[in-house]
Amino acid sequence: MTQDEGKREAARAALKYLRPGEPIGIGTGSTVNHFIDLLAPHKLDIPAAVSSSEASTARLKALGIPVVDLNDAGTLSLYVDGADEANRHLQLIKGGGGALTREKIIAAASRMFVCIADDSKLVQALGRFPLPVEVVPMARSYVARELVRLGGSPELRKGFTTDNGNPILDVHGLRIEKPIEFETRINQIAGVVTVGLFAHRAADLLILGGAGGVRELKAATS
Ligand code: A5P
Repeated sequence: MTQDEGKREAARAALKYLRPGEPIGIGTGSTVNHFIDLLAPHKLDIPAAVSSSEASTARLKALGIPVVDLNDAGTLSLYVDGADEANRHLQLIKGGGGALTREKIIAAASRMFVCIADDSKLVQALGRFPLPVEVVPMARSYVARELVRLGGSPELRKGFTTDNGNPILDVHGLRIEKPIEFETRINQIAGVVTVGLFAHRAADLLILGGAGGVRELKAATS
């Protein structure tokens, strides 16, 4: 099975968590693109979606699923999104596609966050994938210096601005042993809009697709 087939099988397994008649939160990325495509036969059951990016919005609209503002949707019962890395506590690194701020907001506003990924994304310790940090443009250099003090090597994502008009620093060389504390620490740096560490609000369920089939993981307690 290819990595892409693993993503598609994980996306397919998430369909059973749809709640007919209720709006859904939709993330961003190639795994979510599979999920959106697989929604086609279910679209009459989905009154509306809240989307984390312009790219997902366009794909949902092309399918005929109305996209609404989170302010009008209230609390969502389900949010489906991918990840760049996940650990056994279902804490995640996200933002490889640059949509981390909207993703974090929708995850926070959802009762259940189902993360879908191919099984190569499961790691012992987060940090091999460079940690994305969205920053206010004028704070870019200051935040970069602070991230160096925390042991990382930040690199400006070239030729990229987020849907919110901000740059992203990708922080290399980290091994994140205490994700909750590290997320709090980065959130305290002035000028940080969002760090792509989802530890305070981890996923509730991780669905992994791979050669061995599909696995569903709940957060490990120790
Ligand atoms: C988007 O900003 C990210 O958080 C994605 O969820 C993440 O990059 C996963 O992407 P793929 O599904 O393309 O691997």
